[in-house]
Amino acid sequence: MKGTLGSILLLSLVFPLALAVTDMRGLLKRDGFKPFRFCQLGDIQIGFGLDGWQNDTQRMHLAAQQVNGQDFDFCIAVGDLTNDRFSYEIQAFQDTFPEFKTKVHLLPGNHDISSVATLKEFIADYNVSDHSAFSHNGYRFIMLNSVTLISNLTEFAPYTSAEWKWFEHQLVSAADNDEEIIVSHHHLPFEFTEDEADSYWTFPNRVRGKYLDLIKKYNVHHIMVGHRHETKNIYATDNSFTIYVVAGTARFFDDNGFGINYFDVSSGNSATGVSQQYVHLQGVSLMKRSPGLPNGCPDIFAH
Ligand SMILES: *[C@@H]1O[C@H](CO)[C@@H](O)[C@H](O)[C@H]1NC(C)=O
Ligand SMILES: *[C@@H]1O[C@H](CO)[C@@H](O)[C@H](O)[C@H]1NC(C)=O
Ligand SMILES: *[C@@H]1O[C@H](CO)[C@@H](O)[C@H](O)[C@H]1NC(C)=O
Repeated sequence: MKGTLGSILLLSLVFPLALAVTDMRGLLKRDGFKPFRFCQLGDIQIGFGLDGWQNDTQRMHLAAQQVNGQDFDFCIAVGDLTNDRFSYEIQAFQDTFPEFKTKVHLLPGNHDISSVATLKEFIADYNVSDHSAFSHNGYRFIMLNSVTLISNLTEFAPYTSAEWKWFEHQLVSAADNDEEIIVSHHHLPFEFTEDEADSYWTFPNRVRGKYLDLIKKYNVHHIMVGHRHETKNIYATDNSFTIYVVAGTARFFDDNGFGINYFDVSSGNSATGVSQQYVHLQGVSLMKRSPGLPNGCPDIFAH
């Protein structure tokens, strides 16, 4: 009798507590979202600037100063870390990188990776994976190697198929965990319209539709890219997502100068809770638009 009473007493004490804890978890997921900020660094591309690689390095240094002065949880650099992979360029990058006191996730671009050999060198030089993902405050950040994703070079074939599978797996797993998804990579999915012709800057039509179908299916609203050396936002036909393009700190071909995209995440709903602001690189003496367009860049397609 005493035991039963005790159990009932204990149950009546523990059960509501257990219910309350479960309830709290639900509440935390719905209402306990913690706001955060992050930044998007464009092509750092040491060696591409018209004023010499030392000045590209100086602008990377300025970017580190500027980022350190903000309360970002992390930043993502969207590829092309150096222009030619010359050892002095990589050395300059490695020497300057520790100046960032904020975690900066590094992505590869076509100047970093254009073969399996350079893919392996990228991983070794920067001590990172060429594609990866992480979760932060209810958001999943998926960072793709767009070179292997969109290339049809035979030597990349196993990497390409493995990365598509990995991408889909990340999308499914984020959805299963009720996480909002933000995607980043180097190349633009498209520049003006979803069905435009292939160009140097964009995902070829061969894979563009497959990519956009996944973006729409998994309710991705934000995509961060580089490569274009311009700063602008590109919108889906149905306005369901925004592609943020930022020029970076080596060269720009528009009137927006060198700069960094700042993001504020104010809610657990990425459709309405993510706002972006473009901020010029501070401390630059010369904001000079580059004439012409790049040439002699690594080709990542088979012919
Ligand atoms: C490159 O930077 C140096 C000093 O940091 C500066 O004196 C020089 O004018 C810069 N070059 C150009 C072309 O802006
Ligand atoms: C490489 O990265 C790992 C994991 O992020 C870290 O523990 C290690 O210290 C890094 N190595 C070098 C040489 O930076
Ligand atoms: C490789 O892809 C490019 C761009 O999509 C295309 O122009 C080219 O024809 C493809 N080459 C082969 C051999 O599949």
